Amino acid sequence: PVVVHLDHGAEAWQIRDALSAGLTSVMLDGSKLPYDENVALTSYAASYAHRVGASCEGEIGHVAMGDENAITTVEDAVRFYNDTKVDALAVSVGTVHGFYKSAPHIEVQRCRDIADALGDVPLVLHGGSGTPPHEIRALVENGISKINIATEFMDTFLKSVKKQMDILGGGFKAVDLFMDPVIDECTAHAARLLRFFAGK
Ligand code: 13P
Repeated sequence: PVVVHLDHGAEAWQIRDALSAGLTSVMLDGSKLPYDENVALTSYAASYAHRVGASCEGEIGHVAMGDENAITTVEDAVRFYNDTKVDALAVSVGTVHGFYKSAPHIEVQRCRDIADALGDVPLVLHGGSGTPPHEIRALVENGISKINIATEFMDTFLKSVKKQMDILGGGFKAVDLFMDPVIDECTAHAARLLRFFAGK
């Protein structure tokens, strides 16, 4: 089964627009807001999504991009889940958005503790790019059900476009099909990751 998902929705109208456009899953990311505002927006998004048969993800704690990571506490995770009734919960356990500037400190035990406290609520890992494979494996064994990876694909895409432009030496027109090898490289990257996630 697959969903078509809105990642990092920030406002109620984005959730409504995404669902009326036919998406089957949404995320409301209020993780930088004060707790009560995050709960208000996320529970609105969750109930709206549920009314149209879609699922909703929320985030508690904050996975950073160039600012301070706010690691999720077990208490906040349980309280936030009970207050919002999301279908999947993004937690902050040491990953960051974008490539790491130094080796990450991944909090596997904290992930386990949150998973144990929440039972079968699927936990989401944001900031997957560049996370060492053994850390990803440990997190999956300790409660993570969904892994978000973006920067790696943008990087693969840009390097591949540059390679094709270098090969063609500027001698191409916009209508040229130079994108085919770029798409192939991005597809191969996705296939590698999916094989790894499937334990193959
Ligand atoms: P990265 O860009 O670090 O892979 O993070 C992606 C992400 O979490 C999207 O929600």
